[in-house]
Amino acid sequence: MEQLIEKMKVLLATNFAFYLKLHFFHWNVTGSNFPQYHEFFEKLYTEVWEASDGIAEHIRAIKGFAPGSFGRYKEMSLIEDQVDVIPAEQMISIALYDNDKVLTALTEAYKLAEQNAEHGLANFLQDRIDIHKKHGWMLRSTLG
Ligand SMILES: [Fe+2]
Repeated sequence: MEQLIEKMKVLLATNFAFYLKLHFFHWNVTGSNFPQYHEFFEKLYTEVWEASDGIAEHIRAIKGFAPGSFGRYKEMSLIEDQVDVIPAEQMISIALYDNDKVLTALTEAYKLAEQNAEHGLANFLQDRIDIHKKHGWMLRSTLG
């Protein structure tokens, strides 16, 4: 169970880092397709943001404590911090790369949830996997 709790913390940190980067892209994207990109990033960051509460509360349900600080998130996240403003196309390809990192964290947590017979949590994670596969499809299609 300890391993599952740790993996869920990594998932929470990774999810939050992904949210923050998507919101950063939403604010700073430029170019002739600005309205589309600006809106696309908003849809993504909103969906990812809304998932963080569920992830954190699942950690509490399996008797862990949910981390909630930049320091801890930076330590645990699978996603690299984004400091520079970059061209729109690059934002999309980085978001696609990071979406795969979230999928990695989700898949690892899912396996541990199954091993620990935490079926409700496993279902939650399975739903998140489906949603991130859909995000991946949209990001890939935007890249062309
Ligand atoms: Fe906005």
